[in-house]
Amino acid sequence: MTDEPLILGIETSCDETGVGIVRGHTLLADAVASSVDEHARFGGVVPEVASRAHLEAMVPTIERACATAGITPYDVDAVAVTSGPGLAGALLVGVAAAKALAIGLGKPIYGVNHLAAHVAVDQLEHGALPEPCLAMLVSGGHSSLLRVEDVTTGVAPLGSTIDDAAGEAFDKVARLLGLPFPGGPHIDRAAREGHVTIDFPRGLTSRRDLERHRFDFSFSGLKTAVARWVETQQRDGVVIDVGDVAASFQEAVCDVLVRKAIDAATDQGIEDILIGGGVAANSRLRAMATERAGAQGIRVRVPRPGLCTDNGAMVAALGAELVARGRPPSALDLPADSSQPVTEVVV
Ligand code: KG4
Ligand code: ZN
Repeated sequence: MTDEPLILGIETSCDETGVGIVRGHTLLADAVASSVDEHARFGGVVPEVASRAHLEAMVPTIERACATAGITPYDVDAVAVTSGPGLAGALLVGVAAAKALAIGLGKPIYGVNHLAAHVAVDQLEHGALPEPCLAMLVSGGHSSLLRVEDVTTGVAPLGSTIDDAAGEAFDKVARLLGLPFPGGPHIDRAAREGHVTIDFPRGLTSRRDLERHRFDFSFSGLKTAVARWVETQQRDGVVIDVGDVAASFQEAVCDVLVRKAIDAATDQGIEDILIGGGVAANSRLRAMATERAGAQGIRVRVPRPGLCTDNGAMVAALGAELVARGRPPSALDLPADSSQPVTEVVV
């Protein structure tokens, strides 16, 4: 096996069935089948619906990825799969499929951490990760600041949300503004038509909060503040400018995220911030982070939006790094662990 291993990665932790194929740091295919439309009318992901959709999409998505990459499954050096964290039933489908492939092909299997994969994916776009780097993962399920020395051996959590995840806040605020699920992209778009006119609260930034929660986040107070503001306007018969509310809410989220990421990087003596997860697709977050960090001599790396939201390429990217660095594979009876800790890169 070379240091440019050919890896097939499978992702099914939430509502995207992702199959990615990479050779080392080179992306060959990134096939994604999403069940998001089936969840939209419920305003959130329904686990049973997601599991069923993964089952139906799995084989066609593997076939599509192989056809795009111009390979057959027999060519791969190893199979990587998200083992956790995520929805238990959804993870099970991916892990079962990966086991079947690995056994059928006689190839090793790596059950990998979804969050570490969100970090590793950036290698496909910007090359080897700086070591160390400060990773900020912001998705529908997580908001964390992590110190990453070597993405294959472990990541050290510095802080995380104490209530809602950043993406969850985007989704909930979108809902109360009457925007479709998932709300992040819709708020992003609406905000471009609006202006920052409302000064919404920045959670855990007061001097007292910083003593205990310097690198932690809280978004539930912000969500409530937006809800109260909207209610008050409606009660007074004022027509709400959705663009202005979206822009003001987005500004408050991005301000806290960027402030804390820069503070953590500075505290750790790290000069590179990497942003990953679905919320990293947000245009204001990307611009604000690059501008403010740049002013402090800190570089910012963010994968392109399609690689920020859940996909199989990120799993393959982490698998390739594990193989290239000679890390041992998982046992064939590896579990799907819905609460896999961020410190456990491979099960
Ligand atoms: O990483 P991801 O695809 O799935 C999880 O692991 O959760 O993240 C999905 C989240 C959703 O909450 C979605 O609203 C948010 O990412 N998101 C965005 C944007 N695109 C996706 N949030 C803000 N701005 C965006 N452009
Ligand atoms: Zn994710």
